[in-house]
Amino acid sequence: MKGKSPQIIIIDLGSQYTQIIRRSLRYLGFHSIILEPEKSLAWIKENSPKGVILSGGAKSVYDSDAPNIPVEILNLGLPILGICYGMQWLAYTHDKTTVHKVQEGKSYGPVEINFTNPRSLIFNNLKDKINAWSSHGDSVAKVPEGFTVIATSKAGGVIEAMENVSKKLWSVQFHPEVEQTEDENIILNNFVSNICGGVKDYDKKDVIEEIRENTKKILGEGTAIIGVSGGVDSTVLAAILTPALGDKLKAFMIDTGGMRKDEVEKVKQIAKKAGINLEVVDKYKDKFIKQIGTTIDAEEKRAKFRTVYGEVFQDIAKLYGATHMIQGTLATDLIESGSAGKSEMIKTHHNVDLNLGLKEIMPLSDFFKFEVREMAEMFGLEELVSKRQPFPGPGLYLRVVGVPVTEELLEIVREADAEVAEILKKHNLYDKIAQTIVALIGAKTVGVKGDGRVYGYNLVVRTVETTDFMTVKGFYLPQEVCEEIISVLSRHPQVVRVFFDWTSKPPATTEFE
Ligand code: XMP
Repeated sequence: MKGKSPQIIIIDLGSQYTQIIRRSLRYLGFHSIILEPEKSLAWIKENSPKGVILSGGAKSVYDSDAPNIPVEILNLGLPILGICYGMQWLAYTHDKTTVHKVQEGKSYGPVEINFTNPRSLIFNNLKDKINAWSSHGDSVAKVPEGFTVIATSKAGGVIEAMENVSKKLWSVQFHPEVEQTEDENIILNNFVSNICGGVKDYDKKDVIEEIRENTKKILGEGTAIIGVSGGVDSTVLAAILTPALGDKLKAFMIDTGGMRKDEVEKVKQIAKKAGINLEVVDKYKDKFIKQIGTTIDAEEKRAKFRTVYGEVFQDIAKLYGATHMIQGTLATDLIESGSAGKSEMIKTHHNVDLNLGLKEIMPLSDFFKFEVREMAEMFGLEELVSKRQPFPGPGLYLRVVGVPVTEELLEIVREADAEVAEILKKHNLYDKIAQTIVALIGAKTVGVKGDGRVYGYNLVVRTVETTDFMTVKGFYLPQEVCEEIISVLSRHPQVVRVFFDWTSKPPATTEFE
């Protein structure tokens, strides 16, 4: 952004975490660019960056369709940091016998990393050992000639990092960019500041002006519509763009029928505070429920939601003669729907690649949730918007699981969601939780109420903590809060059981569908 030349090039080898590397560098104050391997060499030669990061990736170096990294990057004298697959590629490229193909399942989850003595420059300022996040199949079983092992796990049994200082090559098997790695930013900072000699050139305040300028440029003479859900992303984006685009922007809220309790009123208030001129459209509710209620399959539901959502927007666009649609899509949405670089698809998101016949502009597609929350703060919206928990576009439709969605079931979940939020607020927990999800799990179970048998529904309460939703950890509620939730939710005549779900992501996702 801002025409500054990125100092670091991140070569995307297909990892879910590639965008997180870029985000971490932004956080540290450095401008970077993500490019696919095929475009990397030409870009490096033209732009003279200070260093190269090779991301992780889902492939094996033995795959015939493994990423095509140009070997010439090793001869440019630039410092290179290989992460996960990037490390395996560095090892394999120097010596074909170093990488062991995965034998017994993947290494997945936390590992304790020990550093060798003397400490490598890349691990400066870290504690004696750290807990790091690993997610890989193949591994580097021995280092190529000229390389030194600089970190291990499992009492020295597993090589976790290696370097070849004279060739300016460093690499780690674990993921230094994700928040599950302790002191995650220190390693990247060591690489960029100390090894590459990077100079801080990224200021958060520049971002708002850049978003406005870029969007204006893309919109040109056109006019745009934007859907505002009251969530952080769309509200912040509309607030950023409204003064810049004026009459060329029309903001809508579509009431899909899958909203939380009192959502529409709250969103109207928020829009007012943000200076957004918002129109609420509620005539399509039946269309949503009729279409989505015909399936219980998670992806089919999302697909149907997308279709109806798209049709509604097309109607609205026609009405206003809009040429463009502006979307609050974040990096996370693009990564998870497989639209970012080479990462593998996890879920379809309702607002990615809609193909509405309108040109799409996604001004936030480089950013993560916490960054958008920071932008909300700059607009004084933190109380109303940025502290609100995120809510998916398809809303409560994703929270009636395993049975066809009906208005009655949506109402049970809607009421339960409001009750749980109330209890959590009362116990001063709501703001500490990144997201609370209350879902109805379709399978019925037997309960007893007032001496009578009830064959009823089960509700699940899921509370998680995270900053970027790429990974989440369960937020464990105290027993007395669980008891209160169970007692309040099971008052509903049809609800017989309440479960709590604190599974991390991975292996679960934040939502149930
Ligand atoms: P998952 O379940 O993918 O959720 O771990 C990560 C975050 O994204 C939200 N989410 C969505 N948001 N459209 C959205 O606008 C969607 O289709 C969608 N699916 C998940 C989810 O609530 C969580 O905050």
